[in-house]
Amino acid sequence: MLVALTAKPYLHQVSMRSDIEIDGDAYPYNIPSVRAMGCLDFHADVTFFVGENGAGKSTVLEAIALALGYSPEGGTRNIQLKTTDSVSRLHQSLRLGRSFGNPKDGYFLRAESFFNVATYMDEVGNRGPSMHACSHGEAFMALLTDKFRGKGLYLLDEPEAALSPSRQLAALAAIHGLVRDQSQFIIATHSPILLSYPNARILRFDASGISEIQYEETEQFRVTRDFLNNYPRRLQQLFFDE
Ligand SMILES: Nc1ncnc2c1ncn2[C@@H]1O[C@H](COP(=O)(O)OP(=O)(O)O)[C@@H](O)[C@H]1O
Ligand SMILES: [Mg+2]
Repeated sequence: MLVALTAKPYLHQVSMRSDIEIDGDAYPYNIPSVRAMGCLDFHADVTFFVGENGAGKSTVLEAIALALGYSPEGGTRNIQLKTTDSVSRLHQSLRLGRSFGNPKDGYFLRAESFFNVATYMDEVGNRGPSMHACSHGEAFMALLTDKFRGKGLYLLDEPEAALSPSRQLAALAAIHGLVRDQSQFIIATHSPILLSYPNARILRFDASGISEIQYEETEQFRVTRDFLNNYPRRLQQLFFDE
């Protein structure tokens, strides 16, 4: 049987190099999920990172971005803004498994520094509408629909932060359009809406490491569904029950 060779996934695997000495007591190797990371296999279309706050999702996403040549502040690879934040050295410990095909487009979205990057994109006269004439959510939708050109590898850290539920649905449709145009996404999220994307692998970060989980098994799905179906009773329990 002939197996078609495809460029996707552009990034199929990330693992920890074994020839690097690490200090398990210091950031980032003191994060249990990072220490027990093993080998991450990415879906050709969308891979999600889920897990509790502080589980290490942003640390790992940032390290992948740095290893791919992005600046810690995010943006496209042409944007190399100076950062004041301390950056972990995790990217130096990663081994990337890439395909023969290079993505034609790419972006690393960090929620915290999106404002700085939007300022820069306006200043250098990027095509399309000004990113600052928009609300945060509109600016992110403008990225997805106007700036992302397809055939790209996109790393997004909690993109839902700015989006209303309806906009999250619109974001799903935009992501799907880009996936069909040969794009790959890696997305850290808490959004039960985004996580429903069907052509995806969900990787959960916890104390035992990073492992695959099904959508309906995620805390995002279960807690949200339970709460919406039973919220008067759940509120009662939260506020009044011992
Ligand atoms: N620059 C840093 N220096 C030291 N510790 C950090 C730094 N950035 C994050 N941490 C710590 O690493 C842990 C994981 O953080 P993070 O990757 O942001 O988690 P998540 O994105 O899953 O919420 C947290 O305990 C956080 O306080
Ligand atoms: Mg985070």
